Amino acid sequence: MLRSLVVFGLQVLAVSAKTVTYNWEVDWVSVSPDGYVRSAVGINGQWPCPSLLADVGDRVIVNVKNSLVNETTSIHFHGIFQHGSNQMDGPAMVTQCPIPPGETFTYDFTLQQTGTYWYHAHVGGQYMDGFRGPLVIHDPKAPFSYDEEVVLTLSDWYHIQAPYLIQYFQSPLNENLHGGSEPVPNATLINEAQNVHIPIEPNKAYLFRIINMSGFAAQYFQFDQHEMSVVEIDGVYTHAHQVNQIFLTAAQRYSVIVKSKPNNNQNYAVIASMNDDMFDPGVTPDDIDQSVNAWLVYDNTKPLPPPLQPIDDDVTQQSEDDMVFVPLDNQKPLGPVTMQIPLQVNFSANAQNQNRGSFNNISYNAPQVPTLYTALSAPADLVNNPLIYGANTNPIVLKMGEVVDLLITNYDGGAHPFHLHAHQFQVIARSSWGPDNGPPLEIPTDYLAQEPAAPMRRDTLLIYGNGYAVIRFKVNDPGITLFHCHIEWHVEAGLTLVFIEAPTELQKMKLVLPQSHKDACQKQGISITGNAMGRQGSEENWLDLSGTAMLPAMDDWGALVQPPANNNPNVLAPRSLGRFGRRGI
Ligand code: C2O
Repeated sequence: MLRSLVVFGLQVLAVSAKTVTYNWEVDWVSVSPDGYVRSAVGINGQWPCPSLLADVGDRVIVNVKNSLVNETTSIHFHGIFQHGSNQMDGPAMVTQCPIPPGETFTYDFTLQQTGTYWYHAHVGGQYMDGFRGPLVIHDPKAPFSYDEEVVLTLSDWYHIQAPYLIQYFQSPLNENLHGGSEPVPNATLINEAQNVHIPIEPNKAYLFRIINMSGFAAQYFQFDQHEMSVVEIDGVYTHAHQVNQIFLTAAQRYSVIVKSKPNNNQNYAVIASMNDDMFDPGVTPDDIDQSVNAWLVYDNTKPLPPPLQPIDDDVTQQSEDDMVFVPLDNQKPLGPVTMQIPLQVNFSANAQNQNRGSFNNISYNAPQVPTLYTALSAPADLVNNPLIYGANTNPIVLKMGEVVDLLITNYDGGAHPFHLHAHQFQVIARSSWGPDNGPPLEIPTDYLAQEPAAPMRRDTLLIYGNGYAVIRFKVNDPGITLFHCHIEWHVEAGLTLVFIEAPTELQKMKLVLPQSHKDACQKQGISITGNAMGRQGSEENWLDLSGTAMLPAMDDWGALVQPPANNNPNVLAPRSLGRFGRRGI
C-alpha cells in the first residue's frame, strides 16, 4: 500500500499536475440527430455532451447540478481506477445515492492513467437518453507520435426515452410476445450525428480515438482506403497492429493512427454499422438506420464519394477477435492465482415472468443503502461478511492482494460485453466466436497451463454466445467494484454483481464523503449507514436482512401493459416511474 502511494506521488510530480474543473448543469435539450425530434439529457444546454479532457496526474473536479426536474442522475467515469476515491465512481446505490432533482453533487478525483475513456450516467438506463461523452487523458510520454488528434464516438439511438423502454422490456407482456427481447435502436450515430465531415490534411498522422458509447449495439467501423494502426485499447497501449476494420462492443475504445494520403485529390467515405445479432426482427423498427456515414474531407470543394456498403457481420467477422492485441508492456500473467470464481451467465423468465439476467442464478436488485456506505459503516468484524451487503446485490468479498480468476461461462446464446469497474483485467482465455446455439462450451480444465505470455488487457470484454472467458485481476483497489454486462438493457435486467474489494483496508483509508453526497441521500430519505436494508446497531441487527427483495418491484419495473407499436411513443402514456423516475444503477 505504502509503496504504491509513493510511486504514485512521484508520477504526479513528474507531470506537474493541475486541477481541471467542470461545472455541469444537466438538463433536457431538444435534439434531432437523425431527423426525429426528441428530448435528450444534455449539459449546460448543449448536446452532444462535451468531452472531458485532462492530462495524466490532473485532479478533476466535476460539479454537477441536476436540473432534469423529473429524474435523478449520476455520473460514472468509465475505466477510471479511482484508487483511494471509490466514493467518486458514480453508480447509483453502489457508491453514492442518485442525485435528486435540484441538487448539486461533486466528483473529485486524480487521474492515474492515460488513454481513451468516457463518462456516462449510471442510473436507470439514462445514458441511452444522451448523457454520455468522451473522457481523454493525455500522456506527455505517449509511446507513439501523431500530428492531430480526433475523437470519434459511435452510439446507438432510440426515439423513445429509456424508462419507457425499460418498463416494456422488463414486462411479462414482452416476455410473452417476444421472448423478452431487447428494444432495438432506431439509428446509429457518429459523434451523435449523421453525415459528419471530418476535415483531413494530406501527409499527416492522425490519432483517432474511437469510443462506442452505445447502450446496446456493438459496432463495426471502417475508413475507405485508409488502414488503421491500433495503438491503444481501453486505455492499454498495445503493440501497433494494422487493421482495416474494427469492431467495438458497447463501452469499448480503440485508438488508431491513420496516415493521411499525400494529396487532396479526393474525399473518402467512413462508415459505422451496428451488429444486429441481438436485434429481434419482430421488434426492429422498419426504418432503422443500421449504418451511419461520415466523410474524411480533404477538400470541401470536391464532391463526396458514394457511401460505403453497410458492414454485414454475416460476411465478415474478422475484426471481432481482439485477442490479437498484445499490451505494449508485455505484462506477464499475474500470479499465482489465489482465488477462482466461477460465474454462470444466464437469462430466463423469473417468477413474475420478466426476462432477467443473472450470475449464478442471482439477478441484481439495488439495496436500500449504497453498498459503499454499508462497507464504510459496518463494524470491523462484519465488514468481510457478504451477508450484510444483501443477497440481491450478488456480493463477493475479496481480500487485499488476492489474484482472482473469474471463470465465466455464458449459458446465453447472445454475446455479452462484460465490464469490470476500476481495473484493466488480463484475458487469460476466451472461446472463439462460434455457433451460438449451444451447448455451452466448458473452460478447459488445464487453462492455467495454457496462459498467454502477455495476455490481452482491457476493461470491457465480449464473451461470445455459449462461450467462456477467464479474466484475471489483482485486488489492489479497496472499494466497491461493479461487474456487469455493458448492454444497458442487461444492467436493467439484473446482469450485475458487486465485488467488495479489501473492505478492511477500505475502512482504514478513511474516505471522506463530501457533504453533497450525504445531502443527496438525506433528501431522498436514504440512510448512509447500515446494512443493505439500513439496519445497524447490534450485531444481530447488522445480520438481519429480512425483507430483502430478490425480485424487482413491478410498480416501477416491467409494469407497462402496452407494447410500443412501431416504436411509436404516442402509444405510451406518461406515468410515474418510481422515485423521481430513476432507481439504482
Ligand atoms: Cu461504463 Cu458500470 O459502466
